[in-house]
Order: sequence, then structure tokens, then C-alpha cells
Amino acid sequence: MKKIVVLHGVNLNMFGRRDPAQYGSVTLSEINGKLHELAAELNIVLECWQTNHEGEMVEKIHALHEARVDAVVINPGAWTHYSYAVMDALAILTVPIVEVHMSHVHAREPFRHISLVAPLAKGQITGFGMNSYLLGLRAAWSLVLDEPT
Ligand code: DQA
Repeated sequence: MKKIVVLHGVNLNMFGRRDPAQYGSVTLSEINGKLHELAAELNIVLECWQTNHEGEMVEKIHALHEARVDAVVINPGAWTHYSYAVMDALAILTVPIVEVHMSHVHAREPFRHISLVAPLAKGQITGFGMNSYLLGLRAAWSLVLDEPT
């Protein structure tokens, strides 16, 4: 079975309580629950993980490199736009990366139009709320589908 890890970055544990106009009312644990349902359907081993600490995110990405997971789906939150450290860590990975955002970052403030992750990612899914994650997991799955386990 393929193993895919979904990484949630800074402030994303506050989904459901932050800026409902952008992020709706869904909580991170509801998102993770839906991701696990989809993973069961697609026969994927899934881990969902969140941190508010940049160094912890970097170390988690290093650990994923050692663990040889098949793909990574990441919503880095605000780190997307400025963290060279998260970008450099992701650049070490050799597996497909899919970038996701709940809100439509390109329709928001100009600083959100820049993604340091996008050049490393196979693609970016942005603006579909919780569905961005579900589409991101499907995209990651389709990228690793044909490779032998
Ligand atoms: C976000 C978009 C980022 O600009 C923002 O800093 C976030 C959430 C999203 O999921 O829409 O924290 O990544």
C-alpha cells in the first residue's frame, strides 16, 4: 500500500475558529476525518500531522525523507509565502509534493500570491475549502498509483 502524509502548517489547527469568510467553519479534525475516509476508499496508508513550529516542520520533512513515504500533501499556511527553511527541507524530498490551500490565495493579498513551495510541487490546489485537501490527496494518489509498492 502507498503511504501519503498530509502536513498542515502554522495556524491551521485554528480552522473552524479563524476567518470563516476565508476558511469556513470546518475544523482541522473534521478535515483529517474526511481525508482518512478517502484514504480508506483509495487504499492508502495516511498520516495527517500539524505543527505551529517551523523547526518541527523541517524535522518532520527530514523524517519523511528517511521514512520513504510515497508522496506528501502540504498546506504550509503562511510559511508558504516566506519560509526558505520549509522550502529547503521540501527540496530534499524526492517524492511528489502537492501544495494545497483552503482559500484562493491568488485572489487575496499580493503577499499570498507568492509560493516558495509551488516550484517544488507537482501542482497547487487552492480555493476549494476542505475539497482542496481531498483533491490534493487524490492528485498525490494518482501520481504514485503506477509505481510498484
Ligand atoms: C492558507 C493560505 C495562507 O495564505 C494563510 O497564511 C493560511 C492558510 C490556506 O489554506 O488558504 O494560514 O494556507
